[in-house]
Amino acid sequence: MLDTLGIALIGCGTVGGGVADILLRHKDRLASRSGRPIALRRVVVRDTSKLRDSAIPKELISTDHAAAIHDPTVHVVVELIGGTTTAKKVVLDALAAGKHVVTANKALLADAGHELFEAARKAERCVCFEAAVAGGVPIIRALGESLAANQVTAIQGILNGTSNFILTAMAERGMSYAVALAEAQKLGYAEADPTLDVDGSDAAHKLAVLAQIAFGVAARPHEIQRQGIDTLDAMDIRFADELGYTIKLLAEAWTSGEGGRRKAEGGKDETDSAFRLPPSALNWVALHVAPVLLRHTDLLAQVRGAYNAILVHGDIVGETLYQGPGAGRGPTASSVVADIIDIAVGRAQRTFAAAQLWSTANKGFAIEPAERVRSRFYLRLLVADKPGVLADVTRILADEEISISSVVQHEAAESGGSPVPLVIVTHYAETGRFKTALKKINALATVAAPAVFFSMGD
Ligand SMILES: NC(=O)c1ccc[n+]([C@@H]2O[C@H](COP(=O)([O-])OP(=O)(O)OC[C@H]3O[C@@H](n4cnc5c(N)ncnc54)[C@H](OP(=O)(O)O)[C@@H]3O)[C@@H](O)[C@H]2O)c1
Repeated sequence: MLDTLGIALIGCGTVGGGVADILLRHKDRLASRSGRPIALRRVVVRDTSKLRDSAIPKELISTDHAAAIHDPTVHVVVELIGGTTTAKKVVLDALAAGKHVVTANKALLADAGHELFEAARKAERCVCFEAAVAGGVPIIRALGESLAANQVTAIQGILNGTSNFILTAMAERGMSYAVALAEAQKLGYAEADPTLDVDGSDAAHKLAVLAQIAFGVAARPHEIQRQGIDTLDAMDIRFADELGYTIKLLAEAWTSGEGGRRKAEGGKDETDSAFRLPPSALNWVALHVAPVLLRHTDLLAQVRGAYNAILVHGDIVGETLYQGPGAGRGPTASSVVADIIDIAVGRAQRTFAAAQLWSTANKGFAIEPAERVRSRFYLRLLVADKPGVLADVTRILADEEISISSVVQHEAAESGGSPVPLVIVTHYAETGRFKTALKKINALATVAAPAVFFSMGD
């Protein structure tokens, strides 16, 4: 049997506590899966007097990062403090000290992935991060290893459990956004300050990490167009339902060659398998986070509550779906420990060296604005209840070569008087042209409030 692998946990809160529990309670299981014992040697926290619910021997706990990182019996440093300042220093110091690193910190990876991975390559050590995206769902391994024979052509993910919980409560129980958010906070699904979850930032960080693995692009979070659910009106959830759709917050990556349901410029029809696309057809990827209308029957539309799910289109395999608990103590710790086992076995080091993540070696994709993606659109206007309004809107859309698939307008009395909601569903149009039309529609005197619009997933 190989030597014992020593672990230092930096951070022992929700996730760290779960990791400590697994390391302490399942020693035999971990040793048999790794071919060597795995031992928790150090635990670093902010406040040593805090009560911890896992049975960590007191003598392992300290506030001394450097002592843990430089302990010669520690081989792997697990960063679980979160944030991007101290966490970055911990990771860089650990790599410089010759330790492998495991982290669940998507914000840090999205912000400084390039620097951290360069440091790891220089130190000939690895950085593992399965838990950083979708908690307990093994999407990093799926993209980086299991689908390695494919070129991924599109990704659609429900990557933020808090938002999905709120949207499910709004759709199924008719709650307002504020009431659904309060319930998510009460049940521990949302932080006291839920901004990063509900404004799409958290999903954008995770999409940046997935895009790096699937397309080799180092997208900075600000390069990802983002719209959250914090401005979503319950009226749109009701109209979407009436049309047969569910609204989900999706993190999406579309390539120029995607042959899937929504088409990017240069893409082929649905019937035309992406498998037949020449590699040269794939030269750009558009990344965005936004509420999207999905048919009730769509697989992703059926992902409820705080769950995460990711649909990956590969050029050879077709469509694959990964679903599971996207956060929480057990699921996230499960992924962190899987990374530790991979390092214990020696797999992670080899994969890391071969994959060249966040390197300057470009895999041929450029990041393009989501304006180039073609989609159908849901457009909801509040308009004066007067003749000619629909004709004006239709003309503006026609000027941008956008045709209408259906229109829903309720009687004024039914919708509470003027202005009245007018819902239009379009056929496929390029996002950029649709937005040009929107500007003109918003300028109409009969339009009472800025237009609300969402892409449609079919
Ligand atoms: N929670 C989830 O479900 C989840 C899911 C996926 C990924 N993640 C990621 O996992 C990481 C940890 O999240 P968490 O929810 O476990 O956070 P948490 O519950 O707030 O725990 C943070 C831990 O870090 C310690 N800490 C904070 N600053 C420190 C410092 N300067 N030096 C030493 N220790 C410090 C805290 O010490 P004290 O205990 O003494 O305060 C605490 O033990 C984050 O990057 C997060 O994004 C979390």
